[in-house]
Amino acid sequence: MRSSVIIAIDGPAASGKSSVSRALARRLGFAYVNSGAMYRAATWWMLRRGANPDDPASVLALLPRMQFECGLENGASTIRVDGADPSSHLCDGEVNEHVSALSRIPEVRRLLVEKQRHYAGICDLVMEGRDIGSVVFPDTPFKFYIDAAPEIRARRRARQGQRDAITERDLADTSRKTSPLTIAEDAYVIDSSNLTIDGVVGEIVGRLKLKGLEVPE
Ligand code: DC
Repeated sequence: MRSSVIIAIDGPAASGKSSVSRALARRLGFAYVNSGAMYRAATWWMLRRGANPDDPASVLALLPRMQFECGLENGASTIRVDGADPSSHLCDGEVNEHVSALSRIPEVRRLLVEKQRHYAGICDLVMEGRDIGSVVFPDTPFKFYIDAAPEIRARRRARQGQRDAITERDLADTSRKTSPLTIAEDAYVIDSSNLTIDGVVGEIVGRLKLKGLEVPE
């Protein structure tokens, strides 16, 4: 059995990595997995249960009771927490506000990284996040880091109508001890500030071909 092809797409908030990863997965016929959605779903559930992500003890007390299931539907990752579908809450203001604090907790990361790695045994995939190339799949030869100027990222979020303090989130995500957002040594960096989604996908596809991956036309 051949092993899965994994394309790792990392980058800060609102860098365009979700739209790019989804479009790239469609182009390649791979599954699209959004690891940020997992941290968001866990945050939503913890907040609903009364835990405070800034107080790791309150999170750890509930963690063993969190039934976190990941799946695939129509080529994209799905999440159920205790049987509930959290998707309509993933971009709630309070989730944006607390998700970085929750994702700092090593036990939370351990649980979700295990779920993320599980996908590799099932299919070829494009997975986006903060530590996909550096920690989750360090052996994949296909790593990309997508960035954009902070003012452009802030404008993108505002256009999406979201309350999201991305500068604070960036700082928290890059400065945490466990698996901080970092550019993997062998990642190919793309500045999406002045590129369309198709433009970024085109750059990635060009790079993948150069590295020997067969890409459907
Ligand atoms: O990609 P996103 O903005 O939806 O991610 C939400 C948060 O989840 C992000 O601020 C940090 C955390 N995250 C993480 O720590 N590791 C990942 N692989 C993905 C997201």
